[in-house]
Amino acid sequence: MSSSEVVSRGLENVIIKTTKLTYIDGINGILRYGGYAIEDLVEKASYEEVIHLFLYGDLPNKKQLEYVRQKLFSSFEVPDQVISVIYSLPRDSDPMAMMETAFAVLASIYNPKWDKATDRDRALEMIAKTATITANVYRAKEGLKPKIPQPAGSYAESFLTAVFDKKPTQEEIKAMDAALVLYADHEVPASTTAALVVSSTLSDMYSSIVAALAALKGPLHGGAAEACFKQFVDIGSVDNVEKWFEENIIKGKNRLMGFGHRVYKTYDPRAKIFKKFAKSFADKDEKVKKYYEIAEKLEELGIKTFGSKGIYPNTDYYSGIVYYALGFPMYMFTPLFALSRVLGWAAHIIEYVEEQHRLIRPRALYVGPEKREFKPIDQRP
Ligand code: CMC
Repeated sequence: MSSSEVVSRGLENVIIKTTKLTYIDGINGILRYGGYAIEDLVEKASYEEVIHLFLYGDLPNKKQLEYVRQKLFSSFEVPDQVISVIYSLPRDSDPMAMMETAFAVLASIYNPKWDKATDRDRALEMIAKTATITANVYRAKEGLKPKIPQPAGSYAESFLTAVFDKKPTQEEIKAMDAALVLYADHEVPASTTAALVVSSTLSDMYSSIVAALAALKGPLHGGAAEACFKQFVDIGSVDNVEKWFEENIIKGKNRLMGFGHRVYKTYDPRAKIFKKFAKSFADKDEKVKKYYEIAEKLEELGIKTFGSKGIYPNTDYYSGIVYYALGFPMYMFTPLFALSRVLGWAAHIIEYVEEQHRLIRPRALYVGPEKREFKPIDQRP
């Protein structure tokens, strides 16, 4: 048997676990969380309701939702060392590496053990602390004083208020909440798989998140929203799209960032929703409109060129425009992805450790030399 028959490059089509969390039909562009259509959840549910859905198996009733909200709102505080370590790093540090460092501090201090009776509470606390860490990564990089999010109408509102020191509008809160829901989980991409590998050794929840953050950082995964938005900035005006595309993508043979997906071979349903939010901001703000128009034109060329290969806009294509409209600099796009995805990471590792646990230990096919005779160093060529 040849190695290509045995090795699944990039673990393509390898099923690592079963899940009740997220269903993806990549051919028809369908995404559901726990059976609920992503479109319904974004429109009708809050991120807090989705947190309950992922951690407890269904959407909450009022009492259950109140429990989630109370637990989140009472857990924004982090140990002082977390804030000190974020602020002790150089201001030009990579924000994802800053998040990894902050989570490593949480792992050092808490080192929680897996326990069915408390895992979900730990996850809720961790989700709340992720808001504090993400907000303070931004504040430290901008030279602003630390700030702990405070209880507000929603998790999204608490987060935005802590980041920008001002009360967000209802439209901004809704867009932030939608982004949190849209990025909350996506089955087992590289970051979730990294978290699963670590949790399979029964290492703690926070350390598993350090691994997930490290995997998310790369431009082929979470870094794509930033890389994609950089294309729009680089293009600069809608008149330059065709020339840029010809030079960079066709002749330059670079990948079009924000396009293509291992699972979706059609338009990513999340991209369609992000596009609507981006359009709504673009209709009110000329600066956003400029990037939206560039994105739309580039999307048209991208689909014309790559659509026949099943390469279409993915979730990161329009999310950057929404984040930009909310006031975030580009370097925050991947941390914002992490802020939301921490829920999916936690839910998957809890599902795995509690129901399906086994050490993840794949094999590699040895293709090196056959047995060789050892030669002392002075006899080697
Ligand atoms: N632009 C141009 N060509 C592409 C692209 C793209 N964005 N994506 C894939 N291809 C081509 C690739 O060149 C290859 O062509 P050929 O067969 O002629 O050599 C073919 O498609 C298969 O590529 P692959 O890398 O083996 O496919 P994959 O399933 O590993 O790709 C991907 C998935 C996301 C890594 C890839 O589509 C990509 O690099 N996209 C750009 C980065 C990006 O937007 N990432 C965000 C992914 S969605 C959110 C997330 O997971 O974080």
